[in-house]
Amino acid sequence: MRVLGIETSCDETAVAIVSEKNGKVEIETSLVASQIEFHKPYGGVVPEVAARRHVDVMFPLLVESGVARDGSDIDAIAVTVGPGLLPALRIGVETAKALAWMWNKPLVAVNHMEGHIYSILGSPSSSFGSGEATFPLVCLLVSGGHTEFLLMRDHGDYERLGQTRDDAAGEAFDKVAKLLGLEYPGGPIISKLAKEGNASAIDFPRPMIDTDTLDMSFSGLKTALRYYCEEHSEADINDICASFQQAVVDVLVAKTLKAVSCYHPSAVILAGGVSANTQLRTTLDTQLAAIGCTLLVPPLSLATDNAAMIALAGLHRAKKQDVVDPLTLCANPNLKLGSFL
Ligand code: KG4
Ligand code: ZN
Repeated sequence: MRVLGIETSCDETAVAIVSEKNGKVEIETSLVASQIEFHKPYGGVVPEVAARRHVDVMFPLLVESGVARDGSDIDAIAVTVGPGLLPALRIGVETAKALAWMWNKPLVAVNHMEGHIYSILGSPSSSFGSGEATFPLVCLLVSGGHTEFLLMRDHGDYERLGQTRDDAAGEAFDKVAKLLGLEYPGGPIISKLAKEGNASAIDFPRPMIDTDTLDMSFSGLKTALRYYCEEHSEADINDICASFQQAVVDVLVAKTLKAVSCYHPSAVILAGGVSANTQLRTTLDTQLAAIGCTLLVPPLSLATDNAAMIALAGLHRAKKQDVVDPLTLCANPNLKLGSFL
């Protein structure tokens, strides 16, 4: 089976083709056209700008992907229907609907966050649902819009265990970067500067780290950092970045260990854009290994938004004939995981 994936939920236009032969999954093509340069002047993503750019690059990307002009070389089309920015999502959804209708191919609706979970399958010989990673699994999804723990009981069966009560972890990186006069997106630049800094230089708060729930909060940390910078204008920016990153990592790791002690999963899936963070990956890997739990992470190329993860999640749903009507499908900016589309 060969699946075309389309992703336009935020500021990356992405097209991918994945295939499965004899149980082996292969990412044949994964194209991502980043819009970061277009949003940088605004310090964040502007939905209308994102939508226009998606329109401009969608067809060039489809042509570049090499998909046959009549769609004869694919078996299904998978598209992100939500959550995300409505004007942006609609470009991908309407493109996928038109192609599915013209080519008479099954259309699969994919939740963006489920896509992040399936990005794990892009790592060599990584799988879940069997072997070392049987269900139930704990998922920690950390992106620009979401920071949440899920209990994944089966494919498509999710229970939310906890989430951020305010900013997402990625959003905190982005807002702190803006505060420090750094570029958007904040995650990559802060983690780069953090490598040169001292993570224990500044004792930033670890909000909600000791609470019983798996809920989190990151906006107070950002405010604490703002006050610190106002009072310490000479502070070293590398130390600020390293100390901030350490505070975020400490909270995420402590909450993951709490989730593992409550639900005893064989493995934890870490996914979403912030899973690109090396400090988070390595700390979590070490701490989980110490208690006999496996950490599954996507390859770095699939950590931030891409269409291969959408095609991978779509492939799974297509095999179960979990398809939608191309005439009635609508983008849903507030789509919940596991909910009826
Ligand atoms: O999943 P993603 O590409 O888009 C959303 O679905 O939101 O995640 C983007 C987020 C941004 O907030 C970005 O700053 C963050 O992921 N990010 C990182 C790193 N790379 C990207 N955060 C921390 N460290 C990184 N290395
Ligand atoms: Zn994402």
